[in-house]
Amino acid sequence: MPGSASTVTGAVDRLENAGTLDPVVAAVRKVVRRALRPGRVRDALHGVWLGHPLHPPLTDIPIGTWTAAAVLDLLPRTNRVASTLIAAGCVGYVPTIAAGWADWSELHEQQQRVGLVHATAVATGFSCYVASLAARAGGNTMRGRVWSYLGLSFITVGGYLGGHLSYRQSAGVNHAENVAHDFPEGWQRLAPLDDLPDGELQRRTVSGVALLVVRRGNHVDVLADTCSHLGAPLSEGSFRAHAGQGCVVCPWHGSTFQLADGAVVRGPATAPMPRFETRLADGVVSVMLPGAG
Ligand code: FES
Repeated sequence: MPGSASTVTGAVDRLENAGTLDPVVAAVRKVVRRALRPGRVRDALHGVWLGHPLHPPLTDIPIGTWTAAAVLDLLPRTNRVASTLIAAGCVGYVPTIAAGWADWSELHEQQQRVGLVHATAVATGFSCYVASLAARAGGNTMRGRVWSYLGLSFITVGGYLGGHLSYRQSAGVNHAENVAHDFPEGWQRLAPLDDLPDGELQRRTVSGVALLVVRRGNHVDVLADTCSHLGAPLSEGSFRAHAGQGCVVCPWHGSTFQLADGAVVRGPATAPMPRFETRLADGVVSVMLPGAG
């Protein structure tokens, strides 16, 4: 039913541009950023240690347990098992929502509008499940089931919006993934060494791919210039030493990448930056991307 799909996506497209949500978005963002300061806990919630966002796999716990409970509620004498699953989902919701808020606080404004409604729908669903547990504990199984199915309805709406955030708005995806496909195989000429200013972040383009170039003496580090988090130009960021390693700090949300290997030192980015090999011959620097083409 293409008409139905376009109605739903049209509504979500309008939500992306609903500027009336912005005061709420700004207030919530302030609270989240104050509660989750940059550091190890926040990076752990982003999923820096995992290599991709932590929030999506964590959602499997509440969605899985609550869906299983919905199936069991269709069968006789399953209230106890269903209650256990609902309680497990409520416990799993806590780290899931913490990871989600951490990611949300570093998104574009259109993504944050959709994300706010996504989180509200899911939080409403969670409240329904808490009410369901209370009803079941009080011996009113039927009321508990009604609350559960109501909760699942909100979770489904929230899940749809979460999918929209990822697949239509590219939140949480690796924005540097295309580099390995776009850059040609083999060595490519970058520039004469003398044309590269010493100690500055430079943007150069080779075969249509934007590169971040950092020369220190005769040593040249080259990463893709498009930040893996949301696509900022890293060459407009800043240089920083971290644990004895040269790093680049993204100008938009502060993700920090090692120049030596592109590894993420500080989130919100979770995917490493593509790192190019360099060679100097006859005063000219060339670059090669391992595995390109
Ligand atoms: S674009 Fe967000 S940290 Fe680089």
